[in-house]
Amino acid sequence: MNAFCIPPQNTTLRDIIVWAEELFKNSDLYFGHGTDNALDEAAYLVSYCAQKPADFNDNDLLHVLTASQREKVAEVLYQRITNKVPAAYITGTAYFFGLEFEVNEDVLIPRSPIAELIGEQFFPWFNYADGLSNNKKTPLNILDMCTGSGCIAIACAVAFENANVDAVDISTQALKVANSNICNHHLTERVKAIQSDMFVNLPQKKYDIIVSNPPYVTRVEIDGLPAEYHKEPDMGLYAANNGLQFAIIILQQAFYYLADNGIVVVEVGNSAQALQMLFPDIPFTWLEFEMGGEGVFMLDATQIRQYHAQLQNINITGE
Ligand SMILES: C[S@@+](CC[C@H](N)C(=O)[O-])C[C@H]1O[C@@H](n2cnc3c(N)ncnc32)[C@H](O)[C@@H]1O
Repeated sequence: MNAFCIPPQNTTLRDIIVWAEELFKNSDLYFGHGTDNALDEAAYLVSYCAQKPADFNDNDLLHVLTASQREKVAEVLYQRITNKVPAAYITGTAYFFGLEFEVNEDVLIPRSPIAELIGEQFFPWFNYADGLSNNKKTPLNILDMCTGSGCIAIACAVAFENANVDAVDISTQALKVANSNICNHHLTERVKAIQSDMFVNLPQKKYDIIVSNPPYVTRVEIDGLPAEYHKEPDMGLYAANNGLQFAIIILQQAFYYLADNGIVVVEVGNSAQALQMLFPDIPFTWLEFEMGGEGVFMLDATQIRQYHAQLQNINITGE
């Protein structure tokens, strides 16, 4: 079989997965937007073309693809190999926190390690018993700043069934996707998508958790990223001020929006070192993740108040 010809008649799901895996291995592809290797990516995309579930069984492997399914395979391989479109944009679906999300090129493909923290219900800062009544300390108001597809906001609402979540993004196209995901997960009562340039349109409200995976990549870093990242919206990646533009705004505004016992959790990825250098006195708690990922810090409300003056001193240059 040749790269983008239509696979011959009588080819099974197994045959085509093996073929696609080989093609992927021999192409200059980057895996990291859902799967991390050629075989998983091939299995995911070929089963999508064959209209089989992503967790297909052994019997499905014997499925002989129809003519239109084989045509679809050729088209999908072209998109993935030649155009370097990430698999999630091809299928329109991504998985985060064990949940399915609709995605398109208006939103970043969900992959934040913050999912693991949400799975632990932000333990030890939340979800611990208070020792007296044994009531669990659980957040009632959560802000997901820079929500994109809404994945973090929705995962938080699923993890905390009594919480209301505000999901903020500046992009109306991203919010369309977020709203669709909120609907699909039947969370319209508790998760509200808000169009806002950071905190500008937010009501004066106190949040128990402010969580964010904002843009944090410098222009130099973006230029060096594999082609797949360039299919994602630039406004989902790029941040001025050494990648800290949005993280700084969150730290500055948390003073006004964080509840007395609240916490701020922000992903800054490779810009972690720049943040620590900018605020050498602030004792950021850098979170560790069993499932991989780093560059996520936590500060509590006491620390936000204590370092308020230092945080306000920084100007956002926009460069
Ligand atoms: C890194 S993406 C994160 C999306 C999502 N939270 C996730 O983890 O997949 C950052 C998001 O920030 C949004 N954004 C960029 N500038 C913003 C601003 N000034 N105010 C609010 N959101 C902004 C982008 O539109 C994008 O959806």
